[in-house]
Amino acid sequence: MNYRQLVQYRVSEVGLGCASYWGKKYFSERQAAQVVHRALDQGINYLDTGASYSGGHAEHRLGRILKQISNNKSLVVSSKVGTEVGHFGRLRKDFSWQNIRYSCERSLARLGVEQLSILFLHGPNVEDFNEDTYQALADLKQAGKVSLVGVNSFNPHIIQLTRDSGQFDVLMTDFNVFKPQQIKTLSNTRELGMAVIVAGALGGALYSRPWRHNLSIKNLWYGLRAFKNNRAQLNQAEHFDFLNKHPKYQATQLALAYVLQNKSLSSALVGSTSPQHIQQLAATCGVMLSREYLIKIQQAQQNAGIS
Ligand SMILES: NC(=O)c1ccc[n+]([C@@H]2O[C@H](COP(=O)([O-])OP(=O)(O)OC[C@H]3O[C@@H](n4cnc5c(N)ncnc54)[C@H](OP(=O)(O)O)[C@@H]3O)[C@@H](O)[C@H]2O)c1
Repeated sequence: MNYRQLVQYRVSEVGLGCASYWGKKYFSERQAAQVVHRALDQGINYLDTGASYSGGHAEHRLGRILKQISNNKSLVVSSKVGTEVGHFGRLRKDFSWQNIRYSCERSLARLGVEQLSILFLHGPNVEDFNEDTYQALADLKQAGKVSLVGVNSFNPHIIQLTRDSGQFDVLMTDFNVFKPQQIKTLSNTRELGMAVIVAGALGGALYSRPWRHNLSIKNLWYGLRAFKNNRAQLNQAEHFDFLNKHPKYQATQLALAYVLQNKSLSSALVGSTSPQHIQQLAATCGVMLSREYLIKIQQAQQNAGIS
């Protein structure tokens, strides 16, 4: 594993996203724990989750798993506030001063830690950038409940506000083979002295043949999620089919190597329900894509209408 600087932390350049199917009640906790343990065995020391992830179950689950890990204090753990699971599992936003503080305390209790390494505002809107929000975050920092504060957003305007506010240490945004336009966002943010975490580094692995050809409840769940959230990417994915034809590496490894080649980011988060997949992804560290292969990816991006 390779490590990069994230303000005062040394984090693995591949981080584990503890979210989505991984945290769902109908995915066994024993398997979820195996994924985390395999990640740690591979040198991954950064785990990300969120108060609303997996219908609100992800933090509880990660907390129970962290309890079994003797050196869990050495891990970098981030969570998010501001998106709440409401009635019938509907997500609602609440970035009020009270809820930021309440949600942070709840995350600490669920995760069984005294301090969150990073607390992100989870998808804030323009009006959430205000003095009350900044004060709530400053109070949490002052009380030692959080070490760093950040914003998780894929929206260019919100990212700009995050940078302009001068209030945040870290930006979490998306970057993957489907999103080359984010390269500029990453470098601009880094130049301002903020750290960058990449979310969804595999682009949901939508180009991966095993995913496309293996019908299981899990894959159906991911397919429906992609249909709901990333319909354009489902169509674009066929242009990246060549990633499955590499003689040495899996498509997901190549897609992750593409992301890791970017030096502006501190860590790229991947989500998985499979210890084997995590092991494959961790083995991607140090894989350098040739100039020719990068051009092939750029051509696929152009053919898919991505610029
Ligand atoms: N995507 C977002 O909107 C978003 C937003 C905010 C934060 N994040 C953070 O980013 C993390 C990662 O994002 P994500 O989980 O949405 O997407 P992702 O990591 O881009 O993709 C996850 C998908 O990739 C598959 N996969 C992983 N390794 C594979 C391998 N070696 N071979 C084939 N398939 C593989 C997984 O299936 P298996 O389970 O079968 O491995 C799963 O279907 C989240 O957990 C979260 O911490 C994401």
